[in-house]
Amino acid sequence: MPTFTVKPLPQEAGKKTNFGAIVDGMEPGNIDGNLDLKALRDTIWANKVIVVKGQKDLLPIQQWELVTRFDPDAPQVHSHGDVKTFNKNGGILSASREVLGIPGAENVRLIGKCYQGADHYGIKDRTITKPLTHDWHATKLFDDDFENGHTRFQRWHMDAPLYERDPAWFTTLRCIKRPTSPTLAIHWDDGSGLKIDTEPGLTAFFRNKAIADHSWVEYAPYPYKWMGKCRGNPNGLDVASEGLEASAEDLGEWKDEHVKRYPMVWLNPVTGEKAFQVIDDVVKIRAWVKAIQGRILRPEYIMLPKVEEGDVIIWADWQCFHSAIDYPSKYGPRTMHQANIGAFLAPIGPVPVPAN
Ligand SMILES: [Fe+2]
Repeated sequence: MPTFTVKPLPQEAGKKTNFGAIVDGMEPGNIDGNLDLKALRDTIWANKVIVVKGQKDLLPIQQWELVTRFDPDAPQVHSHGDVKTFNKNGGILSASREVLGIPGAENVRLIGKCYQGADHYGIKDRTITKPLTHDWHATKLFDDDFENGHTRFQRWHMDAPLYERDPAWFTTLRCIKRPTSPTLAIHWDDGSGLKIDTEPGLTAFFRNKAIADHSWVEYAPYPYKWMGKCRGNPNGLDVASEGLEASAEDLGEWKDEHVKRYPMVWLNPVTGEKAFQVIDDVVKIRAWVKAIQGRILRPEYIMLPKVEEGDVIIWADWQCFHSAIDYPSKYGPRTMHQANIGAFLAPIGPVPVPAN
């Protein structure tokens, strides 16, 4: 019997999201004792996104331990490598936000905004000066609009290095602090007029559907550096095709054996469900990908789990996309601890990918 309870996430009126669960009764830090790891892992695969309640006292090192125990054969480092490597080769990822390692548990990353307190697990008197921004969008979000509560999905993605290491099975994100009001409106800003309301400081999710069983993608070396000068669409989905990708010389040294080739559709190892997991590709297929994903990127399919302080949200990166949503600093600080680990094996598709 699992040592915790699982309930579906409450579904809001008009929503068609059919994923997400609340996990209760899990003792903080009980990762060596009675916790049934297999049951927890299967719960994540089955529900795609879970909110684990009551983890206020979880220590950063315990969060990392949990992550490593999910996937004990994986290399024991964050999927994006150490903080130094991330800041060097992170491209659009490190350019758009400041990421700090927690002292003594560097694989657990502090992400957030504003003042983080006098002593945050050894990080002293720190104000995050480079919070998440919308600078990456090809059409500008004006400061006045943003300050008045008009926001966007920053960038739809899965947490995946797409070079050297394989994509994480799961990402864990512990909410330590976030504002809960006032309400913001997330606008698509793509001419569709679509928008949804949200509390500040949440993460949005949607599930992709499979339609491309026989397709695969080869990613550029250091893909986020490769697209470091690119800009995104205002609805947060995909890259705008403006010819801003880096040349091979700009990427510096890279190793052929670290280049990743993955199927477009990734199988859920527990349920066998398919997910369409492409986040970027060459210009000629971007329009094709956009048409497919655009059908799902609608308010009724987007889930914004109301994570409270002390909750750990865990999602299956192989099965869904997520996006951060920024809010004006005047709403108050946000402190989250994020950790994931590059999986010990590459994603598996319904059809084998040809060898490099
Ligand atoms: Fe992410």
